[in-house]
Amino acid sequence: MKSPIEYIVPWVRESEPYSARHMDVAWQNPGILRMMSNENLLPPSPKVLKAVEEASRLGNLYPGSGPELRQKLGEMAGLSGDNVVLGNGSTDIINLVINTFIAPGEEALISVPTFPMYESRVRISGGVPVLVPVRPDFYWDMPALLEAVTGKTKLIFICSPNNPTGNQIDEGDLLKLLELGIPLFFDEAYYELENEPRTRAYLMKDYPHMVVNRTLSKSYGLAGFRVGYLLCEASLANYFNRVKISWNLSLVAIAAALAGICDEEDARIKRQTILDGRELIYAEINQVPGLRAFPSEGNFVLIDASALGKTSQEIMTAMAERGIFLRPMGGHHMPLGFIRVTVGTPEHNRLFLDLFKGYVDECAQVTRG
Ligand SMILES: Cc1ncc(COP(=O)(O)O)c(C=O)c1O
Repeated sequence: MKSPIEYIVPWVRESEPYSARHMDVAWQNPGILRMMSNENLLPPSPKVLKAVEEASRLGNLYPGSGPELRQKLGEMAGLSGDNVVLGNGSTDIINLVINTFIAPGEEALISVPTFPMYESRVRISGGVPVLVPVRPDFYWDMPALLEAVTGKTKLIFICSPNNPTGNQIDEGDLLKLLELGIPLFFDEAYYELENEPRTRAYLMKDYPHMVVNRTLSKSYGLAGFRVGYLLCEASLANYFNRVKISWNLSLVAIAAALAGICDEEDARIKRQTILDGRELIYAEINQVPGLRAFPSEGNFVLIDASALGKTSQEIMTAMAERGIFLRPMGGHHMPLGFIRVTVGTPEHNRLFLDLFKGYVDECAQVTRG
């Protein structure tokens, strides 16, 4: 008799899943600060907690499709509820867009480093991720991207501000990619945290093959409730909704999301806390000889710590021993010695800076000694 494993489609059998192990490790070590996953480290507002409690009382009932939430999210983007597809986190959205456009053997164009979920979900769907490294200055390599397009390219991923580099793509370059006419997934997960938030969703009017991804996990701080959404042409939304599992958002998630986006004062405080924190981390890290922090428009800062002579994994382990989880970038198509720190509360940020500078000093003493 054949092993059931042999029945598994080859692209699932052979693919490496996105590893979410760091999340379990963090939950198992609640005493260590979570500055590794670009969560918002401020807790949900009292209004969100009240809405969640009320929704929980109806937990015996199936949720609807969230028409009120879709309407409100659509209005916030100058569109309507028909232009909004809800996801169980925007990771769910990534999956459903891939499953809508890419058949086994077809290609998705991905500039790396970026959010690794694009690559892993394309592989799980039997697609072929075509990875194009960014330029040495971390900007998108436009000639290389345009050259990598083939007759099999069915989807282009652009994340802006990009995780983990924190930079934005120029509109002119985005237009060059849109002119190709190939579906383009524009990830605005961090858009609310831009220095001056400027969505590109309006380009959908002229380029209906562009779809815009958003999440409530970052600026709005609702990662645990899992709410993401896609802005797209209403005609495309109909197809995405076919692929999407009905009731993919829980009743509690819908309630938390509605309360969260309506609590403008809380959203303002959360955003400002991140902007202030990233400015502080950027400025102080750049004063440390040998370290370099990159300007970021997300809730994270990328740091080149190669001068320490350690791998990013070694740095992450040393910092976890000191009480803070960071994200090593070694596995993210990045050079050794790069780490990413999530901007936290003022207390988190201070502690990170003090502990990290202490660690850098220790490394320097060992080298000198
Ligand atoms: C660029 C980008 N897109 C999407 C996501 C997924 O967010 P969520 O699934 O929580 O909406 C992340 C998470 O870090 C991200 O960095």
